[in-house]
Amino acid sequence: MEVLDLKESENLFMSLAFNEASKGTGYCSPNPCVGCVVVSKDGIILSTGYHKKYGDAHAEQMALNNKLQYDKIQNKDDFKDATAYVTLEPCSHIGQTESCAELLINRSVGKVVCALRDPDHKVSGSGFDKLEKAGVKVVLAKNWAQKAESFLEKYLYARTNLKSYVTLKWAQTIDGSMSLNGKSKWITNENQRKNARIKRGLHDCVVVGWKTLIEDNPRLDLRDTPFKDKANKVLILDPKGHSLNFEEVRDLNVFKLRDLKLVKIVIPNFKIKQVVERQSEDKFLFLGCDLKDENYFDLNLLRKKTYQDFKCNSIFVEGGAYTLAQFIKQNQYNKVCKYEGLVYAGSRGVGIKNHLVFEEFSKINN
Ligand SMILES: NC(=O)c1ccc[n+]([C@@H]2O[C@H](COP(=O)([O-])OP(=O)(O)OC[C@H]3O[C@@H](n4cnc5c(N)ncnc54)[C@H](OP(=O)(O)O)[C@@H]3O)[C@@H](O)[C@H]2O)c1
Ligand SMILES: [Zn+2]
Repeated sequence: MEVLDLKESENLFMSLAFNEASKGTGYCSPNPCVGCVVVSKDGIILSTGYHKKYGDAHAEQMALNNKLQYDKIQNKDDFKDATAYVTLEPCSHIGQTESCAELLINRSVGKVVCALRDPDHKVSGSGFDKLEKAGVKVVLAKNWAQKAESFLEKYLYARTNLKSYVTLKWAQTIDGSMSLNGKSKWITNENQRKNARIKRGLHDCVVVGWKTLIEDNPRLDLRDTPFKDKANKVLILDPKGHSLNFEEVRDLNVFKLRDLKLVKIVIPNFKIKQVVERQSEDKFLFLGCDLKDENYFDLNLLRKKTYQDFKCNSIFVEGGAYTLAQFIKQNQYNKVCKYEGLVYAGSRGVGIKNHLVFEEFSKINN
């Protein structure tokens, strides 16, 4: 395999491939968003493709099977000796769809140019190996690695660390409070809230504490965003297991507005027995997690479970202050996304700082 910087004309094709990949943004997880551009020996674009959503055909399959996309493509021989520009190493395993490495070989593509190796243990170089063994030239485009790493940041983190990527999000007053007198009031303006919903759509799951769920009855959906067709997942952190004895839970917006399979209530492992006892009563899904300091969940473990059992590469933790403070205390986050409204709360305001005690400045984690 050659590792090199692409020439100017090739950069154009790779940039088009990333443009294709971006069309799947928000919909592909737990798969990566991938784009593919196939170019003839004479430098003519024969076809393009992208991974549209999880479960659908991969980018290479969209490009190589979509024969009628351009007049030039009438049969599979038309791809002979072409070059495929792909934003990520082609898969080599047969999952929900056929292996892309094999498809590229079967279509007699002569060269495959990729921006990055896929860290997924099912791929991790085996896509490249398969292509090379079949006589396909493979090029790793060094000058596109950084772009690919930032484009696929959450996917790469999750696949490498086998736990979900965490963004902490909150809205605060100028003087750092998230609520006042325990009452919920808008702190930020509609533009900021819409921006936050878009960020929500870029993650696989929203996480909130039990109190926020009860006090605010939030929808936690993706209304009024480019992701309004996406069915977003929700995790509710309930360290004392209140939800097991709280009948009104079923009337909350979070449950009423989405398929119950998309919501999980996290409760301590030792309470899971109670869930089994009441399983026939309702269809709520519970996730058991071990407790750690202060009888709060072990959040490193929770990230692993969220990745493995709930198929989330990334989670967006939206409060309240107590929940966010636990993630900070346990140092279990990758990024902070903070919105500030032009209001003061004064001494009765409550924010993250009310739940944290440090002897010296604690450094942000990204
Ligand atoms: N500005 C924002 O961005 C934003 C976002 C979300 C929520 N909020 C506001 O935040 C408020 C809720 O936040 P929250 O921090 O109270 O709870 P929370 O994080 O939503 O709930 C977390 C859990 O923490 C526990 N808890 C809360 N405060 C505690 C404390 N001082 N000591 C021990 N355990 C505590 C509760 O457990 P137990 O009851 O089981 O003990 C609850 O189950 C609401 O008024 C909501 O409107 C603001
Ligand atoms: Zn594939």
